[in-house]
This record gives sequence, C-alpha cells and structure tokens, in this order.
Amino acid sequence: MIPIHIPILKEKIGEYFSQISSDKKVILDGTAGEGGHSEYFLETFPESRVILVDRDETMLERAIQRLEPYSSRIHPVLKNFSELNEADLKIEGSDGPDGILLDFGISTYHLKSSGRGFSFQSEEELDMRLDSSSLSAFTILNKYKAEQLLDIFRKYGEEKWSTKIVPKIIEERRKNPIRTTMELAKLIERVIPRKFWPAKVHPSFRIFQALRIESNGELKHIEKAIPNLWNHLSPGGVFACLSFHSLEDRIVKNHFRDLAREDLGILMTKKPISPEESEIDFNPASRSAKLRAVQKKSR
Ligand SMILES: C[S@@+](CC[C@H](N)C(=O)[O-])C[C@H]1O[C@@H](n2cnc3c(N)ncnc32)[C@H](O)[C@@H]1O
Repeated sequence: MIPIHIPILKEKIGEYFSQISSDKKVILDGTAGEGGHSEYFLETFPESRVILVDRDETMLERAIQRLEPYSSRIHPVLKNFSELNEADLKIEGSDGPDGILLDFGISTYHLKSSGRGFSFQSEEELDMRLDSSSLSAFTILNKYKAEQLLDIFRKYGEEKWSTKIVPKIIEERRKNPIRTTMELAKLIERVIPRKFWPAKVHPSFRIFQALRIESNGELKHIEKAIPNLWNHLSPGGVFACLSFHSLEDRIVKNHFRDLAREDLGILMTKKPISPEESEIDFNPASRSAKLRAVQKKSR
C-alpha cells in the first residue's frame, strides 16, 4: 500500500480561512499534492470551491481521484504556482481566490513511491524532476562544475561539509557517472566522519535537499509566486504558507512583513506556527514545518 501524505497543521490553516467573511470561499490550493488539505477545506467549508494546482501531473491526478466525492467543487490546473494567471484564478462567479495555501516541497508519494530518486532510503536513479521544465539531479551532479556544486550545496543544503564532498564527487564521476541514490548516499557517508552525522536524519539529507531545490528551481518559483498571487487575492482574503526549511521561510517572512509594513495586510502569525508535539509524534514529517499567514486588508 502507498503511504499517504498527512496534511500538516490543517486545523490551524482552517481556522485562518474561517476568518474570510464569505461562505462561498474560493480557495487556491497551489500545492495539491495528495489533496489532503483540500479535502479538509471542502469538508469544513461546505459551500467552498477549490482551485487545485500542482506542477506534477501524477500528483494532480492523485488529488483529483481522492477528491472525487467533491468533483463539482474542484477546478484542477496542471501548472507551476508561479505561472498562474487571471484565467486560472478567476473561476466562474468569483473575482479571485479568498484563501491561498502553498505547502512547499514534495509529498510522501514522491519520497516513498515515485521512483524518482528523492530519497536515500531506496536504490533509485537520481532524477528528482517535478515536471519537464526541471533539470535532473543526475545532470546537475555529473555536469555542473565544482564551483556550481559547491554553491548549491552551501546555499540550498547549508552543508558544512561541502568543500570535502564536492572534490569526492568530482573524483568519483571522473571514473563513472554517479547514477543512483545509494551511490550518492554512500559517497557522503564516506566523507562525513560518523561522529558528525546528524542525530535524526541521514548524513546525505542536506545534499539531497540541495539537489531537489536546484533541480526544480524551487526558491525562485516561491519568490515569483507570492507577489503575483497576492495581487489576485480578494480583499479580506488570507494567504498561508507552510515552509520546511529556513530558505523557504525567509522568503515568506520577508514578503509578508513588507505587506504588513505597507499597510496592505495584517499578519495573522507574528511568529511562525510550528506543529504541537502530539502532531509531530503522529506525523514526524511535520517536525520542521513553519506556518505563516497574512490577511489582506479590505478596502
Ligand atoms: C508537500 S506536498 C503538498 C501536500 C498537500 N498539501 C496534501 O495535503 O496532500 C507539495 C506538492 O506541491 C507540488 N509543488 C511543488 N512546487 C510546486 C510549484 N512551484 N508549483 C506547483 N506545485 C508545486 C509538489 O509536486 C507536491 O505535490
């Protein structure tokens, strides 16, 4: 059986969306994934409609299937959330979304079942692409210059061992291209001394994260999407983002802070919200989640 992705902080996000005055809310789920958050919104707000977006075709299909009981209230769009335009966002009878959720990163399906090499737990080809606009992790690892690898491992992985890992990659790939998750994970295990391995995650965790972010241009899409989607959000509407590492959270924090400073929005989270211990026990994948939300002022 395929393990299901558990939606994180769904009640809290629902609480923020319940502050939207309209009963007939249009909610943009920009990262449909397995449709868990959307299912919660459709159940909680019986008159709402959801614009269901994912850049990964497999994920959008999975979400549509899960939300079959609500098919008349969902509007699926296969797109990057940074490319959404008025035609996607102004669905019939609405002037734009009243609630927006972006739940960054990848889903449990990607990690456990996609076979695209997102995880170091099983032997798979290093791919990591969410759609055809992305560059495969294999290409990045085997074709980027040493300085480029160093840059992405430092920036996107915040990996302190980058200066030791990169020369090892260059040495190995001269002999044979690095093709699989295990080849990469084992190489990193050999470079980082065991006493410096992190307690809760595999020592290659940061390098896998960096490759995934680079492969899919993740941060640049977030940078572009927030101001664009904000412009389409209805007055009184709520914009919520779930981040999983400091790079994502910093982008959200800065945009939301600026909106509040310019008196365009009211911060609903002065500090980011983290899941309670009980949620983390039930769903360890929620451990690093940070939720921020801002409400657009009504004019
Ligand atoms: C963490 S999962 C979302 C899980 C979902 N909230 C749920 O409850 O099942 C993130 C999803 O966002 C998608 N995604 C990531 N970046 C995206 C982007 N720039 N545009 C659209 N979808 C994106 C991924 O393909 C993945 O399916």
